[in-house]
Amino acid sequence: MILICDHKLLIFNLLLIMSVVACEMKILTFTAYEGGKVEIRCPYESEYETHKKYLCRGECKVLDKDIPVESGSAAKDERFSLTDNTTTHNFTIIITDLRTEDQGQYWCAVKTGLGKYDDYTEIYLEIKHGKSENTV
Ligand SMILES: *[C@@H]1O[C@H](CO)[C@@H](O)[C@H](O)[C@H]1NC(C)=O
Ligand SMILES: *[C@@H]1O[C@H](CO)[C@@H](O)[C@H](O)[C@H]1NC(C)=O
Repeated sequence: MILICDHKLLIFNLLLIMSVVACEMKILTFTAYEGGKVEIRCPYESEYETHKKYLCRGECKVLDKDIPVESGSAAKDERFSLTDNTTTHNFTIIITDLRTEDQGQYWCAVKTGLGKYDDYTEIYLEIKHGKSENTV
């Protein structure tokens, strides 16, 4: 995913406005160790203070969302937790007991109330092997 923003590709992309736009959609990358935990902080606009926040896993298709955790209800998977800080307008997702299969694409999402068009920030989680003494 980060490869889209690779230096050489970026120069190439400068010729194509659409690609530059795609490159500017920043992806936040987090790296953690297998067996450890990761804390993903997602900023949001102050207007969304009272809105529901959630984590979407994978492609996050409109009609087929995989939501491991959302604000206001118990997490489907207890390794996931979500804390919303309405003072700093950040919500924090913590995933514990990380496994290799947790690696991949996620989205920090905020329900906008505009039907299916929620506010998304793309996340890429990278899981590394070893280093069991790791404490995040
Ligand atoms: C929100 O973040 C601020 C600044 O880090 C902190 O002082 C406050 O305790 C947090 N509030 C909650 C509810 O976590
Ligand atoms: C939200 O978290 C980010 C990342 O830690 C931090 O830079 C930012 O200041 C926080 N936002 C607010 C409003 O505190």
